[in-house]
Amino acid sequence: MCGIIGFVGREQAAPILLDGLARMEYRGYDSAGIAVRSETAGLQVRKAKGRLQVLDELTHGGADLEGVLGIGHTRWATHGEPNDINAHPHVSENGRIALVHNGIIENYMEIKEHLIKQGVTFVSDTDSEVVAQLLEFHYNECHNMLEAVGRCLRRIEGSYALGIICADYPNALIAARKDSPLILGYGKNGNFIASDVTAVIKYTRDVAYMNDGEIAVITADSIDVFDSELIPVDKDHHQVDWDVSAAEKGGYPHFMFKEIMEQPEAIAKTVSPRLRDGRVVLDDITLTAEYIQAVSRIFIIACGSSYHVGMVSKYNWERLMRRPVEVCLASEFRYSDPLVDEHSLVIVISQSGETLDTMAAMREAKRRGARTLAIVNVVGSSIAREADDVLYTWAGPEIAVATTKAYSTQLVLMDLVGLYLGDLLGAVSPEEYAAIVEGIQALPENMRKVLANVETVQYFAAQYFNHNSIFFIGRNLDYAMGMEGSLKLKEISYIHSEAYASGELKHGTISLIESGTLVVALGTYAALFDKAMSNVVEVKARGAEVLAVTTEEFRERMEKVADGTLVVPAVHPVLQPSLGVVPLQLFAYYVALQRGCDIDKPRNLAKSVTVE
Ligand code: F6R
Repeated sequence: MCGIIGFVGREQAAPILLDGLARMEYRGYDSAGIAVRSETAGLQVRKAKGRLQVLDELTHGGADLEGVLGIGHTRWATHGEPNDINAHPHVSENGRIALVHNGIIENYMEIKEHLIKQGVTFVSDTDSEVVAQLLEFHYNECHNMLEAVGRCLRRIEGSYALGIICADYPNALIAARKDSPLILGYGKNGNFIASDVTAVIKYTRDVAYMNDGEIAVITADSIDVFDSELIPVDKDHHQVDWDVSAAEKGGYPHFMFKEIMEQPEAIAKTVSPRLRDGRVVLDDITLTAEYIQAVSRIFIIACGSSYHVGMVSKYNWERLMRRPVEVCLASEFRYSDPLVDEHSLVIVISQSGETLDTMAAMREAKRRGARTLAIVNVVGSSIAREADDVLYTWAGPEIAVATTKAYSTQLVLMDLVGLYLGDLLGAVSPEEYAAIVEGIQALPENMRKVLANVETVQYFAAQYFNHNSIFFIGRNLDYAMGMEGSLKLKEISYIHSEAYASGELKHGTISLIESGTLVVALGTYAALFDKAMSNVVEVKARGAEVLAVTTEEFRERMEKVADGTLVVPAVHPVLQPSLGVVPLQLFAYYVALQRGCDIDKPRNLAKSVTVE
């Protein structure tokens, strides 16, 4: 996720900015930049793709940029590939306003087109540059920076944390926030803004948290905060009491836990720019109703957890489109002489966008004439560049080897695409369409409810961490979700685990169930809950211990039979796996923790599998 720092004070800004950016490196980034206002040279901007070290060397540790007012940014690409030009800070056309931005400006295209008509020239592909150019536009109208910021914020839609400097204001930094975190730091030798306390903790522990809609004017000796109507607001100060080492992962003990907890925010980022007035809007792709009508076969190709997203999506897409959908392991697909041709639509799912098997399968599909749509997290990655169309998940950088937030954002994005295509095919009723859109909008909030129950999951993990073989059982969507739960557990805790379609147990595997075997029984799919219950009774009768996951509606019935029950809110069936998977991720996490495993870097595994 991107990082912001800003400083104004009685010390040179550039070294402080570089140090603050280095402290946010744990968030992941693909490029970085700083802008400093100098008495003699005006705004000086330095940006570099790649590691911070490149920027550090480029500026000689900041020594090249003289000035006590500046902003810095580490970027994780969303709009436009990672390169020097798309990196922040972005500067307005006359070179007098520079800004850094976290978040997504949803109506940037519309504003950009308007400004281009007014003669403004853009240099980057980003939504953020639009804010810099719009600010200059309004500043030219009113010649007052605060007023210009207010006017600009009234025009932009989406999420933002902004740090702004202007050559005409030698002593002030302006900040604004909506749906993207930003803190104010009160230091001895100057004041700060930052997207993350980690960036400023070395200089001050005295901070205030900006609220949505607030604008702040920061000078070396004061911080004045205003609401969106520019009426002054009093801020409460907070003392940060954690130490620098705890801050490396934003205060979380592991990246995996941090990324699990980030899921509601990540889903909101994936979804909100793609829902307008109750409709799914996929501006980035070019699939038309005529094209999708003519498609004869739909394939989903992926590896590992991304393949599990495909498994859930098969059920959901067939329901929404009434078309057969085939899910293929990328490593198998390319050697199977696949029945893919120019009438096939191939969906490729990959967090990294670099998985070799997935890449090779996509190339094979393209070679045979198929049209490809990639669902990718890493902007500008190989798969994203080679696919005919790409939709980004915008989950932010995922650092833990075991995927969590990328899985969740892939899943919800596949739901959006399924709904969009189902609608183009006329296969979804207006009622179902509306119910799913409503459910997607409520997903972040429902996920927060699930995450509020971490302690219950921790309790059960402490009960069961000693098992050395665990089965996940479920039917339909619960089965597909169980595949992911089982993979999460085995990859980080090293416990042998299998996911089975419950109905298959009696065809062989039930012989492995004996006294004390742990079975994680998934019963969140309401339509098949009675069947799920029969399977729980079946394994209990053979001595299994059962940890169940179900919805509030079925809690009472499940609690009568299972040894432990984890409950998630009931939502539209298409969306139920998005909630049901969360306790499974947490269960894997806490079991691995109990067993003393290296959670973020499990043995033998790499984050991106670029070999066969
Ligand atoms: C499991 C996991 C892997 C990946 C798989 C595909 O937690 O992360 O199974 O899902 O290696 O990777 P991507 O999605 O980058 O193609």
